[in-house]
Amino acid sequence: MANMNAGILSTGRSYPEGILTNADLEKMVETSDEWITSRTGIKERHKASEGEYTSLFAVRAARQAIERAKVDPSEIDLLICATVTPDQVLPSTGCLIQAELGAHRAAAFDLAAACSGFLYGLTLANQMIRSGQARYTLVIGAEILTKYVDYTDRSTCVIFGDGAGAALLGPVEEGRGILAARIRSDGRFAEQLFAPGGGTRLGLTAESVASGQHFYKMRGNELFKVAVRSMADISREVLEEAGQSADDVKLFIPHQANQRITDAVADKLKVESERVYSNIAYHGNTSSASIPIALDECLEAERIKEGDLVLMASFGGGVTWGGVALRW
Ligand code: ACO
Repeated sequence: MANMNAGILSTGRSYPEGILTNADLEKMVETSDEWITSRTGIKERHKASEGEYTSLFAVRAARQAIERAKVDPSEIDLLICATVTPDQVLPSTGCLIQAELGAHRAAAFDLAAACSGFLYGLTLANQMIRSGQARYTLVIGAEILTKYVDYTDRSTCVIFGDGAGAALLGPVEEGRGILAARIRSDGRFAEQLFAPGGGTRLGLTAESVASGQHFYKMRGNELFKVAVRSMADISREVLEEAGQSADDVKLFIPHQANQRITDAVADKLKVESERVYSNIAYHGNTSSASIPIALDECLEAERIKEGDLVLMASFGGGVTWGGVALRW
């Protein structure tokens, strides 16, 4: 089985029923639907209720993917849960999902690469499958970001939403599946998007919680330029490695961070808007869940057909970025 190509066999998605609209946010902070729409493209986002947690949606998304591929959970060798909002510190959310699914044979772990988590997961899964170390591999992106958002900070609270997406990967025939995958990071930009509290550095103290140290803090403006450059560069890299050009791309699915970032990256790559997928208007930024949710929506809407070249690119806190070119 060694050196088989790895492809996505099926996908699934799930998110909380609760919706937070721009009109709701207008009542919470000094903002407007006009500002949020024109600066980000977001109209509404899903928001978990108090009793809802990350693995709840991860399991639902994963079950859909598993059922669609008609694979038995016991056949899964590897389960990667990309998340920066785990259910709890220990054990990994991956292990909690594994137990719920009955994927007892799978090695399971969490992968923290923020918005690039899903593409990091695809890149690892690709190598594990190609080398013959794993056959069926589940890559999940799942986040409840709204529990780490400070709803008095208008520069972050309008952006983030909750949800989960899953992809089941397995060996596929030559010429199909993942053609090229690249991941990168630059920790020098760590403080452009970070949550200082809750870890071993500041500790989990009543003071750190009261002063909101566990909430996300973001220098959005500075990240914007790095995001556009990184996503465009890595897209070109993976296309070149795959021996393809931007003209060959049937559908570009970027991480949904901001409609203006998506537009700027697509513009740099010369991929016109008809070939770019966007769902940010009704999901906001769901970090690692954004690309798998988008993929599942595209498959449902039949925007991806067999043989299509799909390009995915992401950028997120860390900072991290990644690109994957895939022949469906
Ligand atoms: N409503 C109204 N005004 C606002 C709001 C708001 N919600 N938020 C900020 N403003 C104001 C600011 O206070 C500022 O006012 P000032 O000029 O009086 O100081 C003005 O709008 C402009 O602020 P900027 O931060 O420069 O606005 P910008 O156009 O850059 O948009 C945004 C902000 C949406 C955050 C954008 O910078 C962005 O999307 N950045 C990239 C984020 C990103 O990619 N993050 C990484 C991925 S996320 C992850 O990994 C989990």
